[in-house]
Amino acid sequence: MDEVDSIIREMETASSEAESSIRDLSGMEALEQWRVQYLGRKGRLALFAAKISSVPPKERASFGKALNAMKERLTAIYEEILSTERTKPREFFTVNHTIPGKRPDFSGFHPLTVVTRQVASIFQSFGFGVHVGPEIESDFYNFVALNMPENHPARDMQDTFYLTPDQHLLLRTHTSPVQIRVMERLTPPFRIIALGKTFRSDAFDASHTPAFHQIEGLMVGEDICFSHLKGVLSLFLRKFFARDMKVRFLPSYFPFTEPSAEISISCEICGGRGCQTCGHEGWLEILGAGMVHPEVFRYAGYDPSTVTGFAFGMGVERLAMLKYGIEDIRSFFLNDIRFLSQVR
Ligand code: PHE
Repeated sequence: MDEVDSIIREMETASSEAESSIRDLSGMEALEQWRVQYLGRKGRLALFAAKISSVPPKERASFGKALNAMKERLTAIYEEILSTERTKPREFFTVNHTIPGKRPDFSGFHPLTVVTRQVASIFQSFGFGVHVGPEIESDFYNFVALNMPENHPARDMQDTFYLTPDQHLLLRTHTSPVQIRVMERLTPPFRIIALGKTFRSDAFDASHTPAFHQIEGLMVGEDICFSHLKGVLSLFLRKFFARDMKVRFLPSYFPFTEPSAEISISCEICGGRGCQTCGHEGWLEILGAGMVHPEVFRYAGYDPSTVTGFAFGMGVERLAMLKYGIEDIRSFFLNDIRFLSQVR
C-alpha cells in the first residue's frame, strides 16, 4: 500500500533529520529537548507508532520493522551523544586562578572611638596623660567638690539620673569629677585628659541623647594662666579639624572655673557669614573651659595660693558631628553598619 510506504519514507526522513540536528547540539539541556522532541511520550517516534492501528494487517510487519529501526537508530545516537556530553568538562568546574580573591570585610572601630582616639593622640602629643574615672559617681565628686553644693542652682543645668533615693549616688553628668579624682592622686605640675561616658536625663532626638561622651582636660602648675588655655585649645582645634580656622573665646559661667569661657570655631560651611549649620551665627560652639576655681583646688586638697590651672570639657558626639557633617546624633547609637563603617 502506497500510504504505508510513504509513512515509512517519512520516518526515514525524520530519522536523518534527527540525526543531523543532534550533531549540532551542545549542552545537556539542548540534548534533553532533542530527546523529548523525538523519543518522548508525544515525540515524533510515538506519533508514528500511533499510526499502526490504521495500517492493514498485511503491512504491519514491515511497518513495525521500520518503526523499530527508527527507534534503535535514534536511541543509539542519543546514547552516544549523551555519554560524550557527560564526560565533557563542565563550565562551572573550570577555575580561573588569575582572578583576585574577595577581600574579607573587616570590622572597624565605632566613629566615636575613632574620634576619641584622634583627640587623645593630639593631647598625648602635647604631653597630656590619659585618665578615666567611674561612671557611677557620688554627689560629692560630681557636684560638691566642683563648687556646686547642695541646692546650688547650677545643678539644675544638668538633669541628673540619681541611683539612690537619698541622691547620694548618680550617673555622672560630666567628666569633671575625674578632675578631683586625679588631683587627689597626682602632685602638680601635671596635664591630663579624662574620657568616658556621661549621662543626663534628656530626650532621645536629633541633638540629644541620655548617654553621651565627653573629653575633659586639666593642666595644673605654678604659673598656668589663661594664655596657656588659649594656646593649647587653639592648637588642638586646628589639629583636630585639620584647617586654619578662627577660634573665639567668649565669657561664660561654670561654678568650677573662674573666669570661664565658651569656645567656638568659625563655621567652615559658610566661612563665618552665617548658615543653617551654625544657626546663622557664623560660629560653632565646641567646648567649655576656664581657670580652675580656688574652691575646687581646696576640695582636692591643693593650696590655691601656690597652684593655678585650667580645665576644659567637650562632647565627643558634637566633635564627630562637626568634623564629619553628621546631622542626627542618634546615628551613633542605631548600629547601622552603613553609617558606622564610613569613619575609619
Ligand atoms: N563640665 C562642663 C560641662 O559638662 C564642661 C567644662 C569642663 C567646663 C571643664 C569648664 C571646665 O558642661
